Amino acid sequence: MQELFDKANSILEEIKQAQPTNAEALEQFRIQYLGSKNVLKDLFGAMAQLPPERKKEYGQLMNTLKTEAELKYENLKLNLEGDTKKQSAATVDVTAPAYTFKVGTRHPISIIRNKMIEIFSRIGFTVAEGPEIEDDWHNFTALNTPEDHPARDMQDTFFLDNSMQHMLRSQTSTVQIRVMEQQKPPIRIICPGRVYRNETISARAHCTFHQVEGLYIDKDVSFADLKQTMLYFAQEMFGKDVQVRFRPSFFPFTEPSAEMDISCFVCNQKGCPVCKQSGWVEIGGCGMVDPAVLENCKIDHEVYSGFAFGMGIERITMLKYRINDLRLFFENDVRFLKQFESAV
Ligand code: DAH
Repeated sequence: MQELFDKANSILEEIKQAQPTNAEALEQFRIQYLGSKNVLKDLFGAMAQLPPERKKEYGQLMNTLKTEAELKYENLKLNLEGDTKKQSAATVDVTAPAYTFKVGTRHPISIIRNKMIEIFSRIGFTVAEGPEIEDDWHNFTALNTPEDHPARDMQDTFFLDNSMQHMLRSQTSTVQIRVMEQQKPPIRIICPGRVYRNETISARAHCTFHQVEGLYIDKDVSFADLKQTMLYFAQEMFGKDVQVRFRPSFFPFTEPSAEMDISCFVCNQKGCPVCKQSGWVEIGGCGMVDPAVLENCKIDHEVYSGFAFGMGIERITMLKYRINDLRLFFENDVRFLKQFESAV
């Protein structure tokens, strides 16, 4: 009888000590202690031979054995599974080529805007920003375009209220005013941004587009500085052989004012559809800041002078990539957009 107790206790000890380290050994453990022909079965069967007063004690011992075997098995199994997972994680081949992600491409307008920022930043221009919802002062009055001035009709404006005091800005020249109101010269900024005009949408015009405004105010700034800056920009953007030409024009906030053309880099001035056989293409407006504008911003025009310019980013982008329809920029057709990813 004592033998049975001893046997059971030694098996209990065996179970406690068992330490299978792989799936095979664990399976052996299961067969031995929990399988259909396990070693505990005989011991359970032997209970019948015991005198009644010891049956209870023996039964409890056997239950302990069984639960111990079951718990041990479950724990070992969980541990081994964890190890296998860790192992399989460790066997990931980190040198294998990665899955390729399909990333979007930069919009051509963004590419050219960034290029313009980069070109101007090399000669000391920093980027300034202003709101797209503007007031009359910044969009017109401070820019020397008082009420009833005919120049207001140059730009068909989207007004936001009947009093016509608030509008979607029709030009980024607004930012000139905002900067001059806040900073003392020397000022050297460009302002890339979106503008809005009430225009009929066509291949050449849209109700929203982008401009880059430039402003340089300091002592002794002359028209020669303006010309040289524009020549530098045109050559950096379109190539070293490009020439610039200035034609007299009118803008209320500059005096004198000019329209800027660059020599047609497509045909080398031989005449082509891009320059409409003229050899020149227009890229923007510019001029010397009108003293009245400086005074509106409390900058002494006896001490300071400066130049300003404004260029359409769509226009530059169309020239650069030979795109012939402005509407393509706003349709967001990926077949169009993905052609520019590695450009410039
Ligand atoms: N704001 C003008 C426009 O939208 C462009 C322009 C012309 C800006 C001459 C300037 C400038 O700063 O000097 O048509």
